[in-house]
Amino acid sequence: MNASSPSVPPASASFHAPGPLAGAVRVPGDKSISHRSLMLSALAVGESVVEGLLEGEDVIATAAAMRAMGADIARGEDGRWRIHGVGVGGLLQPREALDMGNSGTSTRLLLGLVASHPITATFIGDASLSKRPMGRVTDPLGLMGAEFTASPGAGGSQCLPLMVRGICPAVPIEYRLPVASAQVKSAILLAGLNTPGETRVIEPVPTRDHSERMLRGFGADLSVEEDGQGARIISIRGEAELKPQAITVPGDPSSAAFPVVAALLVPGSVVTVENVGLNPTRAGLYQVLRAMGGDIAFTNERTVGGEPVADLVVRHSALSGIDVPPDVVPSMVDEFPVLFVAAALARGRTVMRGLEELRVKESDRIRVMAEGLAAIGARVEELEDGLIVDGTGGDPLAGGATVAAHLDHRIAMSFAVAGLVARKPVVIDDMAPVATSFPGFAAMLARLGAEIRPAQRD
Ligand code: S3P
Repeated sequence: MNASSPSVPPASASFHAPGPLAGAVRVPGDKSISHRSLMLSALAVGESVVEGLLEGEDVIATAAAMRAMGADIARGEDGRWRIHGVGVGGLLQPREALDMGNSGTSTRLLLGLVASHPITATFIGDASLSKRPMGRVTDPLGLMGAEFTASPGAGGSQCLPLMVRGICPAVPIEYRLPVASAQVKSAILLAGLNTPGETRVIEPVPTRDHSERMLRGFGADLSVEEDGQGARIISIRGEAELKPQAITVPGDPSSAAFPVVAALLVPGSVVTVENVGLNPTRAGLYQVLRAMGGDIAFTNERTVGGEPVADLVVRHSALSGIDVPPDVVPSMVDEFPVLFVAAALARGRTVMRGLEELRVKESDRIRVMAEGLAAIGARVEELEDGLIVDGTGGDPLAGGATVAAHLDHRIAMSFAVAGLVARKPVVIDDMAPVATSFPGFAAMLARLGAEIRPAQRD
């Protein structure tokens, strides 16, 4: 592997910008929508066709699990995925453990699906996923009647390997989410699909609403109301019949975040990122970057697959630090690692709080980013629930360190962006996790003019 063939990046690498970034790129399909496309199509009766599916490891894990439970899923030569579903209530007992790899979304949403089917399944995953808390879904699904045997994790949390014994009929519940989590909300709604009566989720803080939009699109009887305090009440009537759909998956705003921040930071850059999904429950980063002075134009605004989409034209900008309002956190929960990098180059102080959920993602993203940023010369202060960053005012970071990705794709990609604006190399110890959500990441940065160098071996 050398700097000119970046389609498969070396395991350990550094990223450099010899000059401005320029050009137009596309990012892969939205990860959240891709998972849901496969799951809901696998429960519909008839053939669904999905275009633009993210072909990353996380989504492939969902496809494999749905196949193991009876769905027929194939990728055509035209790049479209064709899925023949088994019907709601028709999932079969998998013969082997379901390997979820690194994917929390696959695990939590599928636990919901299995919970209201009369089948038993064991979920396993990699070292990162095996540390993540599952009690947040097994608690409500247990109230619906499913039974779980989990492995003990840190602080008594329920972790993988985890066995679920589903129940049919399950008991409909009304559940108020104790954490702002679209995965927990979705697990309960998916369990509710095959549960008689009405299952309700009360969401005090709105999170991404792809499940609601897509369940409705597939014909489920789902309604959303607001109570007086701004909480959303989502009700689904179970024992639904889902109708097959033709779905076009928009580009992932969480993946677009990396070329967008790179273009803002590398002097002289002008980059277009095409076909970016801008569902308001996902687009918080772009509002925050604009509030920091980022020149991001939304062009060619349109609707794709029921979601708002635009092409983003991004120019290098002098950013200023801000206090990020905690109420935007759910709409950009996956984008904080790369926002920390942007803040490290801004003028003045950026304060980001209300981020406790970042500690239970693929890694502890507050700790891992604070350590890595400090190692490459950024001034950061770690808080229990966030990070304070005092930026350089546009000067490059020192670099000259190896940072650990901790099996976390977004950590690896964030430090790739940091390397573009550092004097000495920022070596990422392991780029392999990037394949979970953004297989062509290195190739995309190379197309914009970045260089990828394999790390020197001792
Ligand atoms: C996701 C929800 C979020 C997000 C994850 C995808 C989803 O997780 O971090 O990448 O598709 O529902 P939480 O529900 O844990 O916030």
